[in-house]
Amino acid sequence: MSSKNTYILGIESSCDDTAAAILCNGNVLSNVVANQSIHEKYGGVVPELASRAHQQNIVPVVDQAIEQAGISLSDLNAVAFTQGPGLMGSLLVGTSFAKSLAYGLNIPLIDVNHMQAHILAHFIENEGSEKPEFPFLAMTISGGHTQIVRVDAHFKMTVIGETIDDAVGEAFDKSGKILGLGYPAGPEIDKRSKLGNPKAFKFTKPKVAGLNFSFSGLKTAILYFIQKQLKENPQFIEENLDDVCASIQYTIIEILMDKLKLAVKETGINRIAIGGGVSANSGIRAALKQAESQYGWKTYVPAFEFTTDNAAMIAIVGYLKYLEKEYADQTIMATARLKL
Ligand code: KG4
Ligand code: ZN
Repeated sequence: MSSKNTYILGIESSCDDTAAAILCNGNVLSNVVANQSIHEKYGGVVPELASRAHQQNIVPVVDQAIEQAGISLSDLNAVAFTQGPGLMGSLLVGTSFAKSLAYGLNIPLIDVNHMQAHILAHFIENEGSEKPEFPFLAMTISGGHTQIVRVDAHFKMTVIGETIDDAVGEAFDKSGKILGLGYPAGPEIDKRSKLGNPKAFKFTKPKVAGLNFSFSGLKTAILYFIQKQLKENPQFIEENLDDVCASIQYTIIEILMDKLKLAVKETGINRIAIGGGVSANSGIRAALKQAESQYGWKTYVPAFEFTTDNAAMIAIVGYLKYLEKEYADQTIMATARLKL
């Protein structure tokens, strides 16, 4: 293999997906994810089970990533892994695996912040998707986080707003639970929203100062609304499911867009990138597209495979740090509450 090529293995194990990817000079050669269906019947991620499943999945997932990339372990230039934030038991599996592999191969080990990775996923070499120009605003919307980040350079990021309680993905998932949908409910609410009337029911938006978010009140409002409707009509959910989903999604998107508008106003930056699982949502994608023509914003939406948790986003951060020779050493530890 040419010595000019840089091969990075990325490993992601922060929550319930075990993932490994190989990038060559920032291009994705393989991007493997093993989802853990075990959590579905519990309606949420069970940390103990997640950690055990990661232990079972990590070796086959990494093997598959190497094989699909058509390279061998000895071609790797570095191993990048998610240090945090995430579930401790889950992070430990990826962290110890990455440390041992880098040690065994005698190549650099690179620590990656999962939230930074959701943002830097936009720098994966990908035909048809443009890389954001600095400075830009990134809104990371996932099952664990909701943040607006000012990005001045790859590694110069400042959180300018975040949720004070639930993440936006939780708002989708918990609303879905109230409606009897499976876990995670985000994708199904999205699908049903396309068939329903977004103005059928009105939910009050939370009043939170500045650029911070709050979603726990919305969840309670939905719960009380459904309980009240069910008292009058036990078939309310079945008869109105698409309209309820569309109305919930509409409210959530309004909350996100209101804060983005304020962030653009306060910073004077109108380049907006989104990342994280909820950025797969068709409603937020459409709202951003509309903002381009309505307000003259430039928006960046990642390819679907790089929105939910994946290891290609970990590997791209690994590659960018590798170019700067920013390596970790063997004393590094998984950090559940790692800050941006
Ligand atoms: O980034 P991610 O895979 O994991 C975390 O780091 O949390 O995000 C998962 C979240 C879940 O809450 C899921 O319901 C939500 O992303 N999600 C969606 C959609 N696809 C995934 N929410 C709304 N619409 C979607 N299409
Ligand atoms: Zn994530």
